[in-house]
Amino acid sequence: MEAFFDQSVPWYLVDVPPTDPVMRKLLVEYSGIEDAKVEQHIADIRDKAWRVAPFPCVGSFLFAELVLSTFSVYPKIVANLKSGAWTRYLEVGCGLGQDIRKLIHDGVPKTSVMGTDLLPGLLESGQGLFRDAGALPLNQSLLAADFLDTSNDNVLSKAGLDGTVDIIHATMFLHCFDRPTQLVACKRILTLLKNNPGAMIVGKQGGVAKGAGAREHPVKGPMGQVGGVVRTNFLHDVDSFKDLWDEVGQATGTRWDVQVGEEEVMDRGYLYFDEEEHRWLSFVLTKL
Ligand SMILES: C[S@@+](CC[C@H](N)C(=O)[O-])C[C@H]1O[C@@H](n2cnc3c(N)ncnc32)[C@H](O)[C@@H]1O
Repeated sequence: MEAFFDQSVPWYLVDVPPTDPVMRKLLVEYSGIEDAKVEQHIADIRDKAWRVAPFPCVGSFLFAELVLSTFSVYPKIVANLKSGAWTRYLEVGCGLGQDIRKLIHDGVPKTSVMGTDLLPGLLESGQGLFRDAGALPLNQSLLAADFLDTSNDNVLSKAGLDGTVDIIHATMFLHCFDRPTQLVACKRILTLLKNNPGAMIVGKQGGVAKGAGAREHPVKGPMGQVGGVVRTNFLHDVDSFKDLWDEVGQATGTRWDVQVGEEEVMDRGYLYFDEEEHRWLSFVLTKL
């Protein structure tokens, strides 16, 4: 079992990277962490979360980076949720749920935001990071669930979420799976979304440069073999990601405006995606 928590993997960074000022402000103002103690707090939470999930997003402190608020569509998302035009935001594979807290800090009612993740320990780590277990309780705002569970009594359906969500955020999520599993996850996203034009799916994930060609490779490290199952990541380029959503649209009789951008950044993605053409893909899909 100790190999599972091996800290010699490249994505276990010993030191906390410089904290983004927006994240620092969130931790100080929303969570009440003393400014001088922000890095120590992040490090302490990471060490606890590592014992739950020795994932790259934990080991390399990606959970301390905000994604959604960097999107140009973010002000519209906040405005829709604040005005009540939208009543439910759901983040899937939310991990510690940093973007959920940013939305609340920006004025979105906490009753309109929800997160779900496979691992309750990561949701609890998020409550520890943001010191808000009272405001965002488990089993209400934060649901531990296998998103790939399509049985009738799956947790999200039993919680009454099917057909109720205005916007789904999936960051660093779909790339965790092989392509057939991504198709299952995308279809599940659609059963949760309201059947309204304007319903939205947003996120960011690991990918490869446009034209380099999508590819599948084994997940690095022991987490690729959790439960004895060898898992693979399917990394898209811009075109293959659009193809995936064409297929989802055809299978579900829905039409989507699909905006996908690629970002070439020398960052921590290189610690676990060793493709030289590695990119981050950001996407905004709007139901037509
Ligand atoms: C790479 S992490 C990203 C976490 C978060 N979105 C972020 O960007 O910081 C992927 C997350 O997906 C979750 N996950 C993986 N498989 C899942 C499943 N079948 N159902 C729900 N969550 C899952 C993991 O537990 C993990 O928190």
